[in-house]
Amino acid sequence: MIGRMVQVVNRMRARQVRRYLERNGIDLSHVQCSHRLLVKRESGVPTGETFRIGEHTHLEGRYILGSEGRIVIGSHCSFRTGTHMSSRDLITIGDHVFGAEGIFIADNDNHPVSPLARKEMTCTPPGSVLWKMSDQVACKPVAIEDGVWIGRHAMILKGVRIGQWSIVAAGAVVTKDVPEFSIVAGNPGKVVKTIVNDFELSGED
Ligand SMILES: CC(C)(COP(=O)(O)OP(=O)(O)OC[C@H]1O[C@@H](n2cnc3c(N)ncnc32)[C@H](O)[C@@H]1OP(=O)(O)O)[C@@H](O)C(=O)NCCC(=O)NCCS
Repeated sequence: MIGRMVQVVNRMRARQVRRYLERNGIDLSHVQCSHRLLVKRESGVPTGETFRIGEHTHLEGRYILGSEGRIVIGSHCSFRTGTHMSSRDLITIGDHVFGAEGIFIADNDNHPVSPLARKEMTCTPPGSVLWKMSDQVACKPVAIEDGVWIGRHAMILKGVRIGQWSIVAAGAVVTKDVPEFSIVAGNPGKVVKTIVNDFELSGED
């Protein structure tokens, strides 16, 4: 009985999330939104310009946009519970990308490096200050190409490009670019293996 009620509430919550995003011009046709989805813009509302999702993509997790932030996710992707994306610049994700639970992707450091600026931040009322100080926060776009698989609790930090069909191993902290068809693991992430390109072997693109 309680399980059934939870299901009904979750479905209502998922519908609410969808309605809110669609009202703001975000195209969600053929996108599966979970009730565990939060899309938030620090100044204003998320729009179709700032948050774009391709068809047949499944979305859970938190997507936080700064005033200049944009997140563009391709088709046939899946992002599970505990995903956290933070954009103050641009996060681009290709098609067929799979993110396991608890991953973190950010194109910015969220806080300034300068001790003076950090002190100022902690002395300002919570919630009002972060996006106003974004000029002092380091930002660089992140690009994750088609077919990347991101293992559980991996982190992908600002300025990183991950080449197509690569794998980010569970728990990796990726701070530098990763070539295509590679496995990156560890902290800081290093390429530990090259993956056989079986598209070439099968004659498929
Ligand atoms: C990367 C992964 C797919 C393994 O691929 P694989 O081709 O079998 O690679 P191997 O096990 O041969 O590992 C290659 C090397 O990387 C290391 N390695 C693998 N995964 C690692 C990780 N998560 N962290 C650190 N090192 C790792 C291995 O120890 C090995 O090192 P060695 O060459 O010194 O012995 C797997 O380790 C992984 O992280 N999977 C993600 C699982 C996950 O998150 N699932 C959630 C649901 S999607």
